[in-house]
Amino acid sequence: MEQDGTDRGRVVGYRIPHPMWSARRRVSREGGGVDSEHAGLEQEKRAAAVAAADLVEDGMLVGLGTGTTVAYLLPALGRRHLDISCVATSPATEVLARREGIRVGPFEGVARLDIAIDGADQVDPSGWLIKGGGGAHTREKIVAAAADRFVVIVSSNKLVPRLAPPVPLELMAFGLDATLRSLPHVVLRQAPVTPDGGVLADYHGEVDDPAQLAARFSDTVGIVAHGLFPPAMVSRVLAGRAEHVETLEF
Ligand code: 5RP
Repeated sequence: MEQDGTDRGRVVGYRIPHPMWSARRRVSREGGGVDSEHAGLEQEKRAAAVAAADLVEDGMLVGLGTGTTVAYLLPALGRRHLDISCVATSPATEVLARREGIRVGPFEGVARLDIAIDGADQVDPSGWLIKGGGGAHTREKIVAAAADRFVVIVSSNKLVPRLAPPVPLELMAFGLDATLRSLPHVVLRQAPVTPDGGVLADYHGEVDDPAQLAARFSDTVGIVAHGLFPPAMVSRVLAGRAEHVETLEF
């Protein structure tokens, strides 16, 4: 195991020898540009997801997040042919997981999970996350809170010096206009309804102090859940880097 020694959280990075790195070098040699940058980020997501899949063991109850990074986790998990039971945070993840031969069941009747693995939109140096770009943050937060370990998988561009708007919100449909009146800088999404009947919106105001903003959202009636996840909830962040996966603990 090789330490990386950055000052972001407590870094316990390790290098993963994987064929994808030579693929990445091929991409770079063929000339820079947006396509190769995108390909590089996709490889970082995949590397973080593969590293997270390796944390799962036979017999575990596993929470599966939502998004494009989690889409790399599911085949990596499926390939391991483990005897695990999973809870999915979205219908899309449930479908993809089943396609990979992963057993997915209802969350009802399950009081705790061994591990939950999910992506994030932003991770700041103290471990605060913004999640919910895919609109699943309410279920994702419930699943993360139920897990003994919550592991976050990201590409390196998600590591930011400070959180910036937008912050996703799920609002109750009941009294929506009254809730919106009490919330400045909030814009409803184009296709706002969640599988649980909530209404998705984004807060575009400042995020100076995430703890203060999270407390304000939690105190606002009509907000079902906000996309700010505190460091206390996060066990570990696995961030794909150009040639390795960096592990951050907060
Ligand atoms: C969905 C989420 C996702 O984890 C987050 O948006 C990151 O997605 P992606 O892995 O596609 O970048 O919070 O609600």
